[in-house]
Amino acid sequence: MLKKIGVVGGGNIGGVLIQEITRRKLAREVALMDILPPDFAAGKCLDISEGTPIIGVDITLTGGKDYDVLAGADLIINTAGVPRKKRPDGTIPTREELLKTNLAITSKVAAGIMENAPEAIVISIANPLDAIVYTLHKKMNPSKNRLFGMAGVLDSARYRLFVARAAGVSVDNVEALVLGGHGDTMVPVRSCCRIAGMSVEKFIAADELEKIETRTRKAGAEVVGMLGTGSAFVSPAWAALEMAGAVAYDRKKVMPVCARLEGEYGVDGLFVGVPGVLGAGGLEKVIEVDLTASEKEALDRSVEAVRSTCAEVDAMLG
Ligand code: LAC
Repeated sequence: MLKKIGVVGGGNIGGVLIQEITRRKLAREVALMDILPPDFAAGKCLDISEGTPIIGVDITLTGGKDYDVLAGADLIINTAGVPRKKRPDGTIPTREELLKTNLAITSKVAAGIMENAPEAIVISIANPLDAIVYTLHKKMNPSKNRLFGMAGVLDSARYRLFVARAAGVSVDNVEALVLGGHGDTMVPVRSCCRIAGMSVEKFIAADELEKIETRTRKAGAEVVGMLGTGSAFVSPAWAALEMAGAVAYDRKKVMPVCARLEGEYGVDGLFVGVPGVLGAGGLEKVIEVDLTASEKEALDRSVEAVRSTCAEVDAMLG
């Protein structure tokens, strides 16, 4: 259990986060920061606080409009930014199209964290995921273990669900890795997908797997198209909680993490989804997985997509 977890942004994802951090007892104190008037973050916290006697949890929740509520947090989860929404003409923007708006917000988030919890481990969820984590790094320059992004756990969960359904097995039996950027170029790694330790190809035909992988790459947009009002929020929050739980309970769990690469996979200075070990020290290790030639090519393409969005960040920040 941690001393204090801070959440930046009290929207749909932030709301699920503070609720579940409380229920899962990940920290003794939870703080929520959101600028929304009149006192939105404090109201969200009061609502959950008033429910704690019912679920028998002694945790303090504090909400506020200023970043000082984050003071003393050992872990911060950043959700600040606008989500994707279906346009009136029915089309769905890419995550990258959120960059301009969310970049301005991210600069403020970085300053607020640096001022109030400079030693915290930070997990970022806001989109475009890889570029926002890159921006936080540019502004904060923390050590590699203390800043990383959530995307691969969600993308892999989607892959696992679709595989489990097609194979007619429990989601528990399916292990999967989706690597690369959290965009349309993400890489569901078929050679790493296992059903109870056996190759997924033993259970599902190649053409069916192809369809599952395409659906996985577009799964975020599929939900945006159906909700109409925003993007998925429960599964992204649960994915971040899986990461936060590994840190809070020093579980040394291996999972896909959007990590700053410093030579691994032949990449230097970009944040890309790769397998890592999460524990009390945050991102304790990056693992270089063996890929097939076509998976390696797909990962390289995804890295190039991340690089081009990060070049936009560089240009916008000047
Ligand atoms: C998704 C958004 C949250 O993939 O990035 O659903």
